[in-house]
Amino acid sequence: MPRPIHALIDLDALRQNLSVLRRRAPHARFWAVVKANAYGHGIERVIEALRGADGLALLDLSEAERVRAAGWRAPVLLLEGAFEPRDLEACSRLGLWHTVHHDLQIDALSKHKTQEPHRVFLKLNSGMNRLGFAPHRYRSAWARLQALSQVDEISHMTHFSDADGARGVAHQLEVFDEVTRDLPGERCLANSAALLRHPETQADWVRPGIALYGSSPDFPEHSMAHWGLQPVMSLRSQLIAVQTLQAGDVVGYGSTFVAERSMRIGVVACGYADGYPRHASTGTPVLVGGVRTRTLGRVSMDMLAVDLSDLSPADVGTEVTLWGRASTGEVLPIDEVARAAGTIGYELMCALSARVPVATTQAAQA
Ligand SMILES: Cc1ncc(COP(=O)(O)O)c(C=O)c1O
Repeated sequence: MPRPIHALIDLDALRQNLSVLRRRAPHARFWAVVKANAYGHGIERVIEALRGADGLALLDLSEAERVRAAGWRAPVLLLEGAFEPRDLEACSRLGLWHTVHHDLQIDALSKHKTQEPHRVFLKLNSGMNRLGFAPHRYRSAWARLQALSQVDEISHMTHFSDADGARGVAHQLEVFDEVTRDLPGERCLANSAALLRHPETQADWVRPGIALYGSSPDFPEHSMAHWGLQPVMSLRSQLIAVQTLQAGDVVGYGSTFVAERSMRIGVVACGYADGYPRHASTGTPVLVGGVRTRTLGRVSMDMLAVDLSDLSPADVGTEVTLWGRASTGEVLPIDEVARAAGTIGYELMCALSARVPVATTQAAQA
């Protein structure tokens, strides 16, 4: 018998999330962000469900090679551009569009020999101070690119630090508009949070990631249900043991949970080596047989414990949903589990362990 844990990737949910987002930004073209192996979902697994996007945005050449090998002929954007000059050869060979955020990338382009000029997305550091040219340097970078025979089209791009929070995007948007005002070229600004919360950022292209996968970009202010999103990844396992505790009995390493009364607990085949967060403390929500209950005590490498009080039918073999959709249809948003562990849905998706078998579901394939 294989260990009962597995992850299910719901491709219908992914298609639906894409169309929900498209309806929110009807005039923009869509980059579907598939970096980090499609946020842990598996690039090759999800690519068909993303056919409705206009392009795929990703991190590096290995991911770009994979999407081309999977038959993706539409645009592909390297979100951080070339990491070294010879990456440009692969950009030419694979027809990749690439971000330019640094002078060294322009130097490399100026020396690059290519038949086909490249399309580039010039990145402005409008205030996040991660990647991009400072506002006072942006226009000279644009002029340098404009003069190169290796470049045919220059688009404008920036990234927001606080699209999901109170600080918002206005200050960065103002910088972007000011710096790029009279420059020709398409514009691309919005991640998921900006697309949903700040429609004024939608421009020619949007580039959502997390919302496609069914996690709310501004949880806990808004849930995935608020935005009309469905979970794409579900992590499911089963109870492999049931214990009966008396008042004073403890659970797990460090005895951090002490029973106040007699109770039943279940032991689930899922631990931190599967990607479940070890920092999820007692009380983290979990679905047992589709019914919401809580974890108890510390998560160990291969197991965790759940409260079966009021869950009398639950026994060895009962399905446990760690996040996502139970087979009964109940949903436990990944954002709630992430919050209980002091992290975000992004991290949990990306950290799904290689040892967890993954299957895809799609009822309504076109
Ligand atoms: C430059 C850039 N654009 C777009 C995205 C997508 O962001 P999100 O997943 O929050 O929609 C990311 C993700 O971190 C990013 O780094």
